[in-house]
Order: sequence, then structure tokens, then C-alpha cells
Amino acid sequence: MNAQDKLKIAVIGGDGTGPEVTAEALKVLAAIAPMENIAYETTDFDFGGERYLRTGEILPAGAVEELRTFDAIFLGAVGHPDVAPGVLEKGLLLELRFQLDQYINLRPVKLYPGVETPLVGKGPEDIDFVVIRENTEDMYCGVGGFLKKNTPDEVATQTAIYTRKGCERCIRWAFEFTQKRNNPKGKKLTLVAKTNVLTYGHDLWWRTFQDVAKDYPDVQADYNHVDACCMWMIKNPEWYDCIVTTNMFGDIITDLGAMVQGGMGVAAGGNINPDAGGVSMYEPMGGSAPKYTGQGVINPIAAIGAMSMLLEQSGHEQAGRRVLKAIQEVTGTKMKSQAAGKMGYSTSEIGDLVIAAL
Ligand code: IPM
Ligand code: MN
Repeated sequence: MNAQDKLKIAVIGGDGTGPEVTAEALKVLAAIAPMENIAYETTDFDFGGERYLRTGEILPAGAVEELRTFDAIFLGAVGHPDVAPGVLEKGLLLELRFQLDQYINLRPVKLYPGVETPLVGKGPEDIDFVVIRENTEDMYCGVGGFLKKNTPDEVATQTAIYTRKGCERCIRWAFEFTQKRNNPKGKKLTLVAKTNVLTYGHDLWWRTFQDVAKDYPDVQADYNHVDACCMWMIKNPEWYDCIVTTNMFGDIITDLGAMVQGGMGVAAGGNINPDAGGVSMYEPMGGSAPKYTGQGVINPIAAIGAMSMLLEQSGHEQAGRRVLKAIQEVTGTKMKSQAAGKMGYSTSEIGDLVIAAL
């Protein structure tokens, strides 16, 4: 989009503490917009557990079509204690990822100043990499079934689907991203897969990665098996610049990444459809944390980080970077901890501090 167009954002606050952290992200957006000359409008959607319990529907008819008319979606969190686990996640989060073909899941792993990492001896200069997770294929396709269910002879299958088109578009975007990120320590993209065991699907990924790498001679194309990656992420996180990986492995290693960067209160991600007219969705990685609802103790840093990503990916790079810088000033000079209830400030005070730092 052009920077002068009005940025139309659909807001799904969602369940539990989702609306509280979303409110802080929107407060920061309201503050940065005039500073950076950004025209925007937001529209609220009440999708989530409460609505589902009331109406039996997760995404009502026409909802996806309506969401397609926005430039971006901001999602607080889904997950409700009275709704069976998986129902909302599948019916809302995965449904939107698939229907809107958000084939990139962009998850930065960045240790902000002042944030505690469980990795002894590692600091912000060591922990600063980005995971690019394929977001529409793999075991997430829901292909599989049962045979002789609930008998001693039961068989269950769950099939991973990989397509040349699906992995190529993700790998190509990851190379472009790595090039643009232009890490002063050297541009490197590491494919994380399991080619020694998944000799069909991950062979396709491997061959595609080698092919696409030829178009990016300035980017070092590296490879790690996923198990080794888990080891190196802990032992030598400074070795990574960008990682590109499959949906399932990306899901797993980004939780590891979230812990390395200080926890779920900090980690944010974007579900991106980079194609022309594509609608992307930004979210804090943490869940709805229902037990903290309404107490003003939940950490909004991840949500504000997600807003910074939304701005950056929607053509407002400078605004996104400015919000990210303000976040780092607050973590580095104000917050006592990133854990709920231990921040030294309330949820809305953290939002105020980020705005003051802007
Ligand atoms: C994530 C989540 C989702 C996923 C769940 C809630 C379906 O863990 O965004 O990483 O597996 O992708
Ligand atoms: Mn996950």
C-alpha cells in the first residue's frame, strides 16, 4: 500500500487478556500515527470464545470476506476456559491463516535490553535472529483419518503435505527478507528441516532451497537439522541471522525462541500474505492467559511489538522501528520483569511508558 493511503485495521481483541493487551497496542498506534503522519482506522470484531459460546459460531458467514477488505488484522489472543482446547485455535487462528493464505509466519527472536534470558552469558547482541515459518502446509493441513476408531486395532494417520509452490514462495520470501535485513555480521539464511529422516517432503524443501539460493549469491545458504537447531539456539544463538523452516518445526522452535528472548510476554509474530492485496495478521505469541483477565497485570510488550511489526510490514517502516525502539527503552530502563504481575507497572502503565519513550 502507499504510505499516504488510510491503513484499515481489523481488530480482534479475542479472549481473556487479549483485549487488555490489544488496548495498549492501539494506544501506541494512536500515539505514533500523528508523529509519523499515518492515517488509519480500526474496526472491532468480537470473534472469540464468548461469541462462540453465545452463538455456536466462531467465524460467522461472510466474516472472512469482510476481513479481506482490510489492510491488516490485529489479533489479541484466542482461548477460553469453557471451550475445548483446539476449537478456537483451529476455527479462528488456523482458519484465517489458511483462508487468507498467510503463508509466512514471521517470528523475530530478539532479546531486548534489560530482559532476562535463561541463557547464561548471552545478551542482546547474541540473541537477535528471525524465524520465517511456512504457515499453510505440513501437518497443519488436517489431512488424515481414523480406522477402527476406539477399538484395540485403531489406526490413525496424519499426513504432512508439502508442495513445490508452497515451499518455494516461503523460501524465496525468506531470502528476500534476509537480504533486506542486511545483517552487518553477514547475511545468512539457515534452512531448518529433517532431511535425514523426512526423505521425501524435506528433500523437496532441500532441493527447492538449493535452487532458490542461486538467485541470492550474497546470502550464505546454510542448513541445520531441527534437533541440532534446538541445540544451537541455546548454545550459540549468535550464529543465526534468519531461519526458514516448515510449519510444524517452526511452531516448535519459535516457542523455544520465545523463551530465549524472555518469554511469551515479549514474543510477537506476523502471519503474512505478502502478495498484492494480501491481508496479514499480527499477534502477540502468548495465549489468552484467562487467570489474569481484568487485573491489569498482563504484559502488553508482545502486543505492542506485534503492532510495530504491523506498521513495518504495512509500508510504515520508520514508524515500526520507532515503536520497537521505544519498547526497548522501556524494557531497558523501566520494567523490573517481563512476567505478569512482576513488571513493576500495570498493563496500561507499560503502554503509557512506551508512548512517553516515543
Ligand atoms: C502458534 C500456536 C498455534 C500453532 C496453535 C494455537 C494452533 O501454537 O501460533 O504457534 O500451532 O500454530
Ligand atoms: Mn505455537
